[in-house]
Amino acid sequence: MRAAVQWAQPVLRNRLACWQHRPERGWTATVAPRLIAQATATHASRWRTETVTFTSTAVAVATVGGSRPGERWIVKVPWTDQAVDGLRRQAEVLDLLRADPRLPDLRPVLPSCAAQGEVEGRYYCVERALRGGPASGMLLRRTRRAALLASASRVVRDLHERTRELTRLHPSTVAPWVDAPLQRLEEYAATHPERDRLRDTLRRLREELLAALVGRTVHTSWIHGDFWPGNLLAVTPPGQVTGIVDWDRASARQLPLHDLLHLHVLTRRLTRGDELGEIVVHALRHGVERTLDVPADEAATWLDGIPPRPALLLYWMRHILLFIDSEGDHDDPRWIRGNVERVLVNV
Ligand SMILES: Nc1ncnc2c1ncn2[C@@H]1O[C@H](COP(=O)(O)OP(=O)(O)O)[C@@H](O)[C@H]1O
Ligand SMILES: [Mg+2]
Repeated sequence: MRAAVQWAQPVLRNRLACWQHRPERGWTATVAPRLIAQATATHASRWRTETVTFTSTAVAVATVGGSRPGERWIVKVPWTDQAVDGLRRQAEVLDLLRADPRLPDLRPVLPSCAAQGEVEGRYYCVERALRGGPASGMLLRRTRRAALLASASRVVRDLHERTRELTRLHPSTVAPWVDAPLQRLEEYAATHPERDRLRDTLRRLREELLAALVGRTVHTSWIHGDFWPGNLLAVTPPGQVTGIVDWDRASARQLPLHDLLHLHVLTRRLTRGDELGEIVVHALRHGVERTLDVPADEAATWLDGIPPRPALLLYWMRHILLFIDSEGDHDDPRWIRGNVERVLVNV
């Protein structure tokens, strides 16, 4: 029961976000056919807006169908500065990955920004619609879930393996992974009634992470950076991934464990309702393989020799740094409690 209520809250929050913002959705629905006509050098009367959703990151996403069967395009219009920066960054990343000769198998699942520009002073981006439906709706049946996770892991590991470099971890490599999130957590700790205790914990975590990481040789690679089922499109059966969206958090020379842990942690979150922080604490206590229901040898390949505790802490810290200042999270006491505080008081 508790899990069901917890699960319902983010879903309801997203639903609400989708149904609010009528003016933004209406405006996007109106301009979208014109933008597709421009991008494809066709007449606007051939195109019709089918749906417009407003995402939790303040982007209006319009699906536009053409008069010929199977013709479908996406128009994205961001409504905050943060969302504009995210879409511009995504367009840059996608150009880089598409042009990368090491990644032929990734290209079919990558969106491509066919046109971008400004309409009535507002940034927009046009993408060809990828095949498939949202993978987050395919997790409830165990066999489908297993097929989807296997396909998603295969695709993302191909990205990791084809772009990987053997990297010896120096203090300067590790600093952005450890010091940047810890600094943000220090700011959080300063607002907490138990600030001294939390600051001690943060100091201890820094020492522990530097000791575990500096001097170690691991593989680093491009990562997607927000690799969860909500950013995957798939067809069922057989649960094959047909698209990967939302590339604005992608970057080079990172630890592949972030994508693999995030895929499995968020799958547990979506199927069982636990908050991410709760799942991290469970994995710290009971092991990655038991918490995420994967074979031990598979979990070991994700971590590439890094012991589970520092690996989980790095994953958690990166996630917190990325999302603590994004709209809808930092100002949500429930998110802070379940994701930030829950881990800090248990490590
Ligand atoms: N190129 C695309 N083809 C098909 N569907 C897409 C495409 N881009 C986005 N979508 C759909 O729109 C949703 C929101 O897009 P996304 O880029 O993930 O925005 P946000 O950053 O707000 O999460 C996705 O989960 C996906 O279902
Ligand atoms: Mg997304």
